[in-house]
Amino acid sequence: MAKMWAGRTAGATDKLADDFNSSISFDSRMYRQDIKGSMAHAAMLGAQGIIAESEADTLIAGLEGILADLESGALPINMECEDIHMFVEQVLTERLGDVGKKLHTARSRNDQVALDLRMNLRDEAEGIVALLKELIRALLEQIECNKTTIMPGYTHLQRAQPITFAHHLLAYCMMLLRDIDRFNDMKRRMNLSPIGCCALAGTTYDTDRYFEAERLGFDGICMNSIDGVSDRDFCVEFVSCCATLMMHLSRFSEEIILWSSWEFKFVELSDAYTTGSSIMPQKKNPDMAELIRGKTGRVYGDLMGILTVLKGLPLAYNKDMQEDKEGIFDAVDTVKMCLGIMIPMISTMKAIPENMLKAAQEGFINATDLADYLVKKGLPFRSAYKISGSIVAECIRKKCVLESVTLEEYRQYSDLFDSDVYDAISLETCVAKRISVGGPGLESCEAQIEFVKNGLSR
Ligand code: ARG
Repeated sequence: MAKMWAGRTAGATDKLADDFNSSISFDSRMYRQDIKGSMAHAAMLGAQGIIAESEADTLIAGLEGILADLESGALPINMECEDIHMFVEQVLTERLGDVGKKLHTARSRNDQVALDLRMNLRDEAEGIVALLKELIRALLEQIECNKTTIMPGYTHLQRAQPITFAHHLLAYCMMLLRDIDRFNDMKRRMNLSPIGCCALAGTTYDTDRYFEAERLGFDGICMNSIDGVSDRDFCVEFVSCCATLMMHLSRFSEEIILWSSWEFKFVELSDAYTTGSSIMPQKKNPDMAELIRGKTGRVYGDLMGILTVLKGLPLAYNKDMQEDKEGIFDAVDTVKMCLGIMIPMISTMKAIPENMLKAAQEGFINATDLADYLVKKGLPFRSAYKISGSIVAECIRKKCVLESVTLEEYRQYSDLFDSDVYDAISLETCVAKRISVGGPGLESCEAQIEFVKNGLSR
């Protein structure tokens, strides 16, 4: 096929070189942004008198037609074209004749691709934020049902202190809220228009970059034309937001996998989001959670990929930068897929409070509360800690729990012990009294729920 850029050379590239050079197989997903960008560009050219207003109208109508035909499927994308920018321009020229050839005045593919990518990722970021909110809502439903469901909280994966299932899930809500903030914050820096930077050095035409920026919903423009076409910070930041989000989903997945094991059995996943084994009839495997954990690795890889592509590139545009897209789009698709499966998996997950309580009763997780009991009676914390530890050691030897130690036995360690010790170390009390801000007590938990609900309007 004849190259649109034939001139300096005949454009007679080798077929292998064409395939190697081509990006249409992965950048055609930006067709909507490409066409919208071109419409704004045509309108600007007309408004500035660089082309006639009537020509601008013809170009815009032609672009509208192409968009409609692409959406309806009437116009198949020609994979022989080098990239989506060339494809749209070529169809436009085929349909409009010479007027079509005017679209690329005062523009380069360098600012065009930067524009398309910013607009595309801006849309994708909005979609991801919407999914994040849906996941938070699914978590809130579980949280509402489990505000007093006692479970052991862990450190070092050892039972540590009593918390509630709601409190634990609220921790994930906080992470996801930060993810929303991160995407929004990144979007603020990304939402500047590079169009009008042209190849790298601007143009001698009397263009109006602000006109285009405003039409396309940008908050402003890239202030240096060389930077405008070279900058891919927004890609790095975007994938970095994705990587952090995946890290959160992966940690959560890991817990879901643990919790659905027979060793824990804190939750039961719906059959719809588990699989069986081809050989072991008893198995119910949490494959979805495992895959989310696994796919986190590829998103980290996408981040490393874009950073490495950019490292060492001289200003301004270099073809290396075409390598930005596949990794970024992979991150976008992976994150959307993972959130998409996480949401129903969480909504349909069943908590098993009896098992959580049983685990909470077994690990001496009220030992801190036993020490605190003595502190409240006047003993310094370190001394109280020591006594509590000795009693735990004795219980382990005798295979009993703190609740079954008699008052007489307690008194052998300290005469500060009284019959109110049993209330102080009951798991219900231990949780209910933890009303410090951010804690698992009901009041604190309600405040956190409010915080999360308010956060959904970000
Ligand atoms: N397909 C190219 C990319 O993705 C578009 C920009 C090409 N610019 C150029 N001067 N060859 O980066």
